[in-house]
Amino acid sequence: MKALLVLAVYAVAGYAKILPEDFPQCKRSDPNLESCILQAVEVVKPRLLNGIPEVSIPALDPFSVPTLKLDRTANNLRLKATIKNMKAYGGSNFKIEKLRLNLNNKYVGEVRVTIPKLDVSADYDVRGSRILALDISGKGKFRSNFTDITVIAKGSAKPVVKDGVEYLQTDKIITKLKIGNGQVIIEDTERPVAANSAAAFFNGSPTIVLDILNPLVEESSARIFKAFINKIFGTIPLKEILVEDAL
Ligand SMILES: *[C@@H]1O[C@H](CO)[C@@H](O)[C@H](O)[C@H]1NC(C)=O
Repeated sequence: MKALLVLAVYAVAGYAKILPEDFPQCKRSDPNLESCILQAVEVVKPRLLNGIPEVSIPALDPFSVPTLKLDRTANNLRLKATIKNMKAYGGSNFKIEKLRLNLNNKYVGEVRVTIPKLDVSADYDVRGSRILALDISGKGKFRSNFTDITVIAKGSAKPVVKDGVEYLQTDKIITKLKIGNGQVIIEDTERPVAANSAAAFFNGSPTIVLDILNPLVEESSARIFKAFINKIFGTIPLKEILVEDAL
């Protein structure tokens, strides 16, 4: 009975915390907020591997993207594709090289992350598409290894109120991505011979093809990153992400 009463008081007062008690937290007023967050990330990192379902943090390794639709026309590139069951292994070895936040009037931030190696596999269905003069239409599975990946993500967020509780929501996120090297294996069920030459072409000059694909990869990674961040922001109240001094 007493415990129930305490619980009720906590609920009314809004003290029912979402984050586990042992989660590191940073104070909004911390003059070294960036280093506090970097340290917190290091502490939480091992738990990110499998995700934290209670707080909607998806598993980071492997990181899954159920469906990704691509549609882009540019110089040297026409690509219309559906990517399904994408799984990326290696993301949890990320290292934050730089973090800059500006919380004066807005929530603005920039982060620079490196990932030594990412092993990505997916099902694809590509229609009426070309890279340079190469017809890359087909359907099947691809596996790929990418190394020396650098991601710079810049974004802003704004507070939104849901059921009387304040959460952050991203406004805009843009990413810059650089991939050092890549190798692919393609198993195409429609046009295996053409797919093999496309793979050989890619593997022979990965940096050239990655350059051509870059705008598309950057746009997709920004979309994936935004969905990931919003899932976390949408579950954890702002005051638990950045603790106010009064608490
Ligand atoms: C990726 O690298 C692993 C070993 O690190 C290797 O077993 C695998 O075949 C490689 N995949 C591709 C697509 O090159």
